[in-house]
Amino acid sequence: MTKVFISCALPYANGPCHLGHIRSTYLPADIYARYNRMIGNDVLMVCATDEHGTPIAVKADKENKKPIEISKRYHDMIVRDVESMNISLDNFTRTTDEIHYEIAQNFFKDLYDKGLIYRLDIQQLYCENCQKFLPDRYVEGLCPACGSEARGDHCEKCGRALEPIELDEPKCLTCGNTPVIKDTYQYAFKLSEFEYELKVYIKNNDNLPANVKNYASNWLKEGLNDWVLTRDMDWGIPVPLDEAQGKVLYVWIEAFLGYISSAAQWSRKTNIKWEDYWNDYVVHFIGKDIIYHHSIFWPGLLTAYGCKKPDMIYAGEFLSLEGEKMSTSKNWVIWISDFVKDFEPDLLRYYLTINAPLNKDSDFSWDDFQRRNNDELADVIGNLLHRTFTFTHKFFDGNVPEYNNPSSEDLAFEAEITKLPDTVGEYISNYEFREALLEIFKVAKIGNKYFNDQEPWKAVKEDKQKAANTLYLSNQLAKTLAYVLKPFLPTKADEIAQILKLDDISVWADAKVPLPSGYGIAKAKPLFKKIEDDVITHQKDKLQENLEENEDDNMSDIIDIDYFDKVDIRIGQIKEAEKIEKSDKLLKLQVDIGDETRQIVAGLAKFYKPEELINRKVAVLVNLKPAKLFGTLSEGMLLATGKSGALLSPDDCEIGEEIQ
Ligand code: MF3
Ligand code: ZN
Repeated sequence: MTKVFISCALPYANGPCHLGHIRSTYLPADIYARYNRMIGNDVLMVCATDEHGTPIAVKADKENKKPIEISKRYHDMIVRDVESMNISLDNFTRTTDEIHYEIAQNFFKDLYDKGLIYRLDIQQLYCENCQKFLPDRYVEGLCPACGSEARGDHCEKCGRALEPIELDEPKCLTCGNTPVIKDTYQYAFKLSEFEYELKVYIKNNDNLPANVKNYASNWLKEGLNDWVLTRDMDWGIPVPLDEAQGKVLYVWIEAFLGYISSAAQWSRKTNIKWEDYWNDYVVHFIGKDIIYHHSIFWPGLLTAYGCKKPDMIYAGEFLSLEGEKMSTSKNWVIWISDFVKDFEPDLLRYYLTINAPLNKDSDFSWDDFQRRNNDELADVIGNLLHRTFTFTHKFFDGNVPEYNNPSSEDLAFEAEITKLPDTVGEYISNYEFREALLEIFKVAKIGNKYFNDQEPWKAVKEDKQKAANTLYLSNQLAKTLAYVLKPFLPTKADEIAQILKLDDISVWADAKVPLPSGYGIAKAKPLFKKIEDDVITHQKDKLQENLEENEDDNMSDIIDIDYFDKVDIRIGQIKEAEKIEKSDKLLKLQVDIGDETRQIVAGLAKFYKPEELINRKVAVLVNLKPAKLFGTLSEGMLLATGKSGALLSPDDCEIGEEIQ
């Protein structure tokens, strides 16, 4: 028996799951896992939410919440989404789990003790306004390789992993300022030492799919730099070295280890060693955007640790929506939780699998979803099953009839049925999930044609054995379908099994054991329904409305009166003013706003001397979120013109008056 370690890429806990997540990783991993279990392999399938790093920290900043509150919220949603799609994970954990901290810190320590991680004095981007280093997604700019807009850690366009300092025209994500370069130190991994080993790994591993092989070998041609593994940030796993106070592990090194810690957590629960699975066969299902990390960084780290490298990295290409790139910020997206409110999860599993091979880009369109459901699932597979079950009851008292003196058509059809499990199995083993499902569909179509041609409704009156053979074989196909559909459409397969009174369809080889003549089946019930036009129109409208709502929210300059009502501007008087050391722009002011005095840091030093400001009346935005500028607390903002810095001076007003 083979042991198979299957993982899905860890989703960042900064949003719920949408169709893209399911298509690129969870669904293919699940099909593969379910099939492997059915052929008797011992599967361990794991995943976790990726809770650290700037994606979560940035979201938390935006919402003024703690990162853990954000990641917990989305962790729970992701669990719900994954379960609703019947993804059969053996364990799903979080990277904030204790075991994960322990494993990640020990891994780092191990490499450090071996001299493979070393202290590196480097320069990094620093925002003087926000007074912090800007790791990864805290910076945006242009990709140095392809010139497209990129985040500090990654260019989506060309797929490259980046360092913020490489970006052209960098900007602080929080405040938009251009950051400066500042000296600091981090810890780096001697990735360059493993260049040769990685080249051999990529070259000799014939199993790796073409997209992974091509990307990786191109990058390897350029040569490898060492890889910085730590960050100056609060949110993350502390670097386990006394001299590295305030530094955390870079999210990527520990996210990989999420595969291991999820497995280790499972081992603690079950008392079964996860290492046996890893040492046998490892397959990572990932999205195409993280091929670099999985084909270079991760095998590099594993080699350094002395651990086996993955046998297979399967990278799903992108899914677009109605021909456009999906975008969560523009709300051009279908959330799993919305989808499953209106449709059965198996319909989505079917569509996403059959629509395109995993290694090609694919598009979700509502019209096409309806077409495939109605023409393929309902008209072909559903119709075949329904006719088979109802005729069995109508003409043979609900029992599988005798099979005698088969005609050449019967024999040809029988051969198709017998072949099906092997063909499907072979495709799945080769990660060709679409081809597998197409084959199932093809044989169902042959079954429908055979049924029509045999006309059992007529034959039953003239040549009952002929009708008996037709229904015998159609029931055998129904049974085979229950098995071969199980990895793809687990719920529907169970429903077919129920009608066929099969309690257990978990063993692939049983697909080939025919139902005996005389075997009683249950009454038919409709398995696949057509989706009406108005249902699809409604979905399309919803998508459009979301987009428009979002445009209203984000893109319009016009605000309504309620919005303005939230803005609290009052008249204040400057009582004290002094320069802020090391800043040539900022002044620290004490401003009387009637019922209290506020400390406000303002960018006025270039325009006014501190003493010129004393007793001046000013307009103050008082309900601005407090912030620290150059380490000094600022609790409000003075209204002034941008360029000349002229303060608005409402001399005729009373201190504390509200502007309305
Ligand atoms: N959270 C990362 C992303 O969504 C993927 C992490 S995959 C793992 O891009 F390898 F680190 F687990
Ligand atoms: Zn900034």
